[in-house]
Amino acid sequence: MKFIAGNWKMNGTCDALKTMAEALVNVQTENRIILCVPFTMLGCVKPNGFAIGAQDVSAHDHGAFTGEISAGMLSAIGAQYVIVGHSERRQYHNETNEVVRSKAVTTIKAGLTPIICVGETMDEKQSGKTMEIIESGVRESVPSDITGDVIVAYEPRWAIGAGLTPTTDEITAAHTLIADTLKSMGRAGTPILYGASVKANNAAEIMSIANVDGVLVGGASLKPDDFIPIITSVK
Ligand code: 13P
Repeated sequence: MKFIAGNWKMNGTCDALKTMAEALVNVQTENRIILCVPFTMLGCVKPNGFAIGAQDVSAHDHGAFTGEISAGMLSAIGAQYVIVGHSERRQYHNETNEVVRSKAVTTIKAGLTPIICVGETMDEKQSGKTMEIIESGVRESVPSDITGDVIVAYEPRWAIGAGLTPTTDEITAAHTLIADTLKSMGRAGTPILYGASVKANNAAEIMSIANVDGVLVGGASLKPDDFIPIITSVK
């Protein structure tokens, strides 16, 4: 069983989600399918054969935080997962590992599973800091002093939406480091997803790499014709 998660980012409509949901009903798979959609679309469909998730959450439980959405609110509308610390949140909203960690904590306390993203920029890669950024990302963003499931996603920031992917050796090294780091934090067995430019033609190969428990898909998760072949490319 692999996790096949879609991140719709700021795309789609309720109609598009209904179309996707209708298409997913007929897909025979043992994989765990998750669709992380914009807040306004969370209540659009009753998930059948897939789980629904959000793409961000407030670090606060309730109160005077205009414009924010709490983990409890997400739970109430049926979301089971939340992406936290996506590179676009880190880049455009200055989210640090510390902020990401606090969002992950509120998510876990509300009974949802955070999908915690880590990954290096092109600058960091070129200056040889990939492993350092990944390890500190995991150590500082993943809560280790609270029980409750988490998922970690390795998303090399330079490869997102760029049609680029790291080499098999690079993905292997990153995922091995993440698995070892999680183990040292008492979180052995945490699923680790790969995300960035996953398509139907590379998904199976990527998911055959050691410690790759699934994928987090951006652009290719928006349409059934692109997303379903990714789901069915692995058992
Ligand atoms: P793409 O699959 O479009 O590269 O996006 C990856 C991503 O950011 C998923 O969260």
